[in-house]
Amino acid sequence: MLYLIGNWKMAPEKNIQVIDLVKKTNEIAKLYKKSITTIVCPPAVFLPIVKKNIKVPLGIGSQGVAASDAVAQTGLISASMIKESGAQYVIIGHSEMRARGDSNANVKDQLTRLFEKKLTPIVCIGEKTRDEQGWYLSEVKDQLETVYGDLAPLQAKKIILAYEPVWAIGAQADRAATPAECREMTIFIRKFLSDKYGEKIAKAMPILYGGSADEFNAKSFLEEGTADGFLIGRVSLDPKRLGALAKTINK
Ligand code: PGA
Repeated sequence: MLYLIGNWKMAPEKNIQVIDLVKKTNEIAKLYKKSITTIVCPPAVFLPIVKKNIKVPLGIGSQGVAASDAVAQTGLISASMIKESGAQYVIIGHSEMRARGDSNANVKDQLTRLFEKKLTPIVCIGEKTRDEQGWYLSEVKDQLETVYGDLAPLQAKKIILAYEPVWAIGAQADRAATPAECREMTIFIRKFLSDKYGEKIAKAMPILYGGSADEFNAKSFLEEGTADGFLIGRVSLDPKRLGALAKTINK
């Protein structure tokens, strides 16, 4: 099963646009449900309206969660609140959240909160820049070690991991990673997981790609890049393009 996860970030702005986007994404999820699990992650304020308009099989997720349940955390939302909203998934470790201060340790605490509430974590990892010598691999290894360090296989298997090279994300990115760059990293990650959990378990763990993925490059990320699906930003806000992307990876 492939994953197609739309990270809407801080968009759209109006209820009516949210409803329109959910309805169109419902259609895409239904059309490709045999091969693709489609999930949308709207801004938290829109979770109830998305929940109201969503149809099976489209899944719903939140962007971020507080690392602790303490009430005095202005601006944050707790795992219980997310659960109450009807969301099933939560994105953590996204580079835009790390840039605002989330450390590896925070991401680990957030992960623990999600397991407590039986929410499925979508954990983002990825290097900020690349260098010729391969030092960027140690940045990713640190992230992996914090996430999986003490996790038993049963919990580890529940994580949807998204490899997102920070330099390839968003409108300011020069380019997406190449499928070869993605492949190098998925191999590195699979080796880490298989050393820790054994090949059989590691093989069942999904590793997605994110960062300027679109309807033109998606197929090569699956075939050559060996990704198991995508975490999509901009394209997830455009149902025509998202539909085209789903169509190419469904083939
Ligand atoms: P992008 O964002 O697809 O717009 O590059 C990806 C992400 O931030 O998850």
